[in-house]
Amino acid sequence: MKELKRAVAKEALKFIEDDMIVSLGTGSTTAYFLEYLGKLIMEEELEDVYGVPTSYQARLLALEYGVPVVGLDEVDAIDIAVDGADEVDLNLNLIKGRGAALTMEKIVEYRAGTFLVLVDESKLVERLGQKMPVPIEVIPAAWRAIKEELEVFNATAELRMASKKDGPVVTENGNFLLDARFHRIDDPLDLEIELNNIPGVVENGIFADIADIVLVGTREGVKRLER
Ligand code: A5P
Repeated sequence: MKELKRAVAKEALKFIEDDMIVSLGTGSTTAYFLEYLGKLIMEEELEDVYGVPTSYQARLLALEYGVPVVGLDEVDAIDIAVDGADEVDLNLNLIKGRGAALTMEKIVEYRAGTFLVLVDESKLVERLGQKMPVPIEVIPAAWRAIKEELEVFNATAELRMASKKDGPVVTENGNFLLDARFHRIDDPLDLEIELNNIPGVVENGIFADIADIVLVGTREGVKRLER
């Protein structure tokens, strides 16, 4: 799996040109991408490329690998967003947020000129929700009410607990995460909008209709899927 992730990360470099503002995603696949991107910048094969991190992880890796970073509020536009995903369906709708960075990821990926997704073949599903729950970032005081309200959607949700501290995961925005399993997701865009209409929901991990290109690492090589 590691090799497939490395292969797509390397392929993603073909999309990066001089003078681009690149949104830097979160997760192990984009970590490889950052490593390769930093190398090209250090070797001066790419010039005036700046990264907009979607998380502290992306920021720290960018600093480590020599990718200059800027804030979203310092740039006029994002040329390309590069990020991983937790599931990709047949229409290139995504579930994201295993890394808890879904809100900033959606903020930048929604606005990018091109949204390029990097996955290995294990992430491909026929229907969203087949393997992964949908992460929902919520205002802490509302977590229990929202968990109960999700029953209307035929979903069961768990408060995401931290593994290296006691208590729940707290996002970089100071919120909690509910991981929601839906009986069946027929219309991802509709569900994405409906979840965000629940008061107290900050953002959810369904990314419907925004991926432009998905690079898939397979045993037979990198495949390119496009909408
Ligand atoms: C981060 O919040 C997620 O949206 C990631 O993009 C996702 O978990 C991908 O991670 P890997 O590249 O490690 O599979």
